[in-house]
Amino acid sequence: MEPLKGLILSGGAGTRLRPITHTSAKQLVPVANKPVLFYGIEALVDAGIEEIGIIIAPETGDEIREAAGDGSDFGASITYIVQDEPAGLAHAVLTAEAFIAGSPFVMYLGDNLLADGLRGLVATFREDEPDALILLTPVDDPSSYGVAELDGEKVVRLIEKPKDPPTNLALVGVYLFAQPIFDAARSLEPSWRGELEITEAIDSLIDDGLKVQSEVVSGWWKDTGQLADMLEANRLVLEEIEPRLDGDTDDSRIEGRVIVEPGAKVIRSVVRGPAVIGAGAHIEDAYVGPYTSIGDSVRICRSEIEHSIVLAGSVVEDLGTRMEASLLGREVKLTRSDGMPKTLRMLVGDKSEIEII
Ligand code: TTP
Repeated sequence: MEPLKGLILSGGAGTRLRPITHTSAKQLVPVANKPVLFYGIEALVDAGIEEIGIIIAPETGDEIREAAGDGSDFGASITYIVQDEPAGLAHAVLTAEAFIAGSPFVMYLGDNLLADGLRGLVATFREDEPDALILLTPVDDPSSYGVAELDGEKVVRLIEKPKDPPTNLALVGVYLFAQPIFDAARSLEPSWRGELEITEAIDSLIDDGLKVQSEVVSGWWKDTGQLADMLEANRLVLEEIEPRLDGDTDDSRIEGRVIVEPGAKVIRSVVRGPAVIGAGAHIEDAYVGPYTSIGDSVRICRSEIEHSIVLAGSVVEDLGTRMEASLLGREVKLTRSDGMPKTLRMLVGDKSEIEII
């Protein structure tokens, strides 16, 4: 079999992660201080796939190009492919047809994270040479996902959000395809939500008697398309970091798995891992608790924070209550003033969510 190419889907609307996605691509939100997208690129390269196409949207494409560059930092060669509108995963496949140019390929959703990597899958695909190999994972609420009906490892049918699920095995955002997927995608009509659905394209492969195989993931898998899952992915990745203290930690207690990047200052504070403190961050008279990623040049002063992601350049000062399960965008300011009356003053962007307790 000729070498596989990689296709990462990093277009899309990202409506479920607004307001972050008003100004930035969700695939660039950092998990343990590294953009989600980079985990996907690294997983492809680790599986021996170096020629990678990235689908981008017109609005956020430039930012993605700037972040991932020509791929040389990853040992890959990256080609960017603009998808004019988020018309569905099968539409993204068709948009990439010239880039794929007859190769078998791995399609990877750019906001997904997979603990196991892709090596095993690629090996199975090479050995069995199916027309499509899909990944499945058991879920508690199959009726919210695309679900597979199986006969052994052979996929009999895919059903989008079934009312009466035949199994609890949901589709994970990684697919391996041979050429027939293009004709299958071309034959589709837009679904009720106006998209060309990849599940329908795979279903039509099955209808045509082609070989669609499945594998169940053994490690965790996360789709970071919404806040709770993004925080959960952050937690899972932080669980596995190698502790390293490269910044200053004056009069502070650092407990458990913690990374303090160079140039960061932790003063009279407690950092209880797993947590990462970005380069140039300033933590003073503060508590940073488990499952927290503090971005570069962030200031946390006289405040407590845990199970949260804070993006570069933000400031949190004098909060008075502990902040948790939060995602702060770039250069957000969250402060309390001493004066009376005790009021709240805010400048908040569209579709932000703030809970005051
Ligand atoms: P989704 O999370 O399913 O879709 P979305 O990004 O539009 O988000 P939301 O539902 O919150 O509005 O997309 C999965 C991945 O595929 C994600 O990385 C975006 C990407 N994608 C494309 O590249 N092109 C598309 O047409 C679609 C629908 C998604």
